[in-house]
Amino acid sequence: DAAPLVDVRGRPLHDIRFSVTDRCNFRCVYCMPKEIFGRDYAFMPREELLTFEEITRLVAIGIGHGVEKIRLTGGEPLLRKGLPELVAMLSELRTPSGAAPDIAVTTNGSALAHLAPALKDAGLRRVTVSLDSLDDATFQSMNDVRFPVAKVLHGLDVAHEVGLGPIKVNMVVKKGLNDQDIVAMARHFKGTPFILRFIEFMDVGTTNGWQLREVVPSAEVIARIHAELPLEEVEPNYRGETSRRWRYRDGEGEIGVISSVTQSFCHSCSRARISVDGKLYTCLFADTGHDLRALLRGGASDNELSEAMATIWRARTDRYSELRGLNTPRSGRGAKRIEMSYIGG
Ligand code: GTP
Ligand code: 5AD
Ligand code: SF4
Ligand code: SF4
Repeated sequence: DAAPLVDVRGRPLHDIRFSVTDRCNFRCVYCMPKEIFGRDYAFMPREELLTFEEITRLVAIGIGHGVEKIRLTGGEPLLRKGLPELVAMLSELRTPSGAAPDIAVTTNGSALAHLAPALKDAGLRRVTVSLDSLDDATFQSMNDVRFPVAKVLHGLDVAHEVGLGPIKVNMVVKKGLNDQDIVAMARHFKGTPFILRFIEFMDVGTTNGWQLREVVPSAEVIARIHAELPLEEVEPNYRGETSRRWRYRDGEGEIGVISSVTQSFCHSCSRARISVDGKLYTCLFADTGHDLRALLRGGASDNELSEAMATIWRARTDRYSELRGLNTPRSGRGAKRIEMSYIGG
């Protein structure tokens, strides 16, 4: 099958993001609010999770369709037992160019100081770390488990020391909660090896009570920083990059903004997501997935799996963020949607 795999809108399948666990030790208010994800919340039982062998097999099949990039997310992926083993297994795969796939992990950083060396040894090249504030009171009001800023900063340092990089830092901006820290975050990471990116608070899932008025548009983020630390826009690294890049005029590095709400990037979205239990979702905002685990565990051949993946992708029409802009904004509560911890950030 030499013809490149593209969807209905001509978008290739380039990137697969796996949620490797739906568990997390944080309870970020925009992702796993405590009222819902409380003590008695039923997380996925272990036998439901895709095994490392199953994940690796799906990646190998994806590579046959042009996949070059793998992201391991969650939940908190570092809570998945033996994660470095999975990284090692994936690092042994080869894309048609003979290179290993680009493997990255998105983590809250809490276990990074502990696990960065093993992940690096397993072949991981880069990590992305979430950090929403430098102020403990603010950060703790967002992670909701009293996790201190200093531990995440230490995790970042260890990751850098062991040679993981380029390391990105993601800050979700929620108006009235942490938007007062935008410039302080920019100042802190300016001139460091870490690339700070500001993410617009999104209406993923149905539990975070999203409202449009809590979104700080990226244009405003840039304006606030530019007023104190002059910026200029930079070309994207690659087609379909979620983040728009800006660099400091004084040459002290760059920042990025991910504007899923105010400037959607669906037109070039080449990402598939695979949930903890092996369902393939063609959009972060999809309401139903395609059960690849049933095929894996039902004895499907590589060819059958490959055909199934291709059929799903060819039929893909998703462009949720574009359509959201066309309709009147809705609160995000009514609609049936999948939680980000399950489908993968
Ligand atoms: P790199 O360019 O490799 O760093 O990947 P990336 O930009 O996809 O990085 P990352 O995984 O850190 O994505 C950052 C955030 O952007 C995610 O956590 C989401 O909040 C958001 N995001 C990523 N992909 C999508 C997408 O396909 N759709 C939407 N709406 N948001 C996305
Ligand atoms: N809006 C924007 N970003 C979110 N993330 C989680 N939930 C949301 C949301 N509602 C981000 C996390 C992390 C990544 C996995 O996704 O902060 O950076
Ligand atoms: Fe956990 Fe990340 Fe969700 Fe926060 S955003 S609750 S750290 S998975
Ligand atoms: Fe891709 Fe869906 Fe996000 Fe659009 S809304 S960029 S189609 S994941």
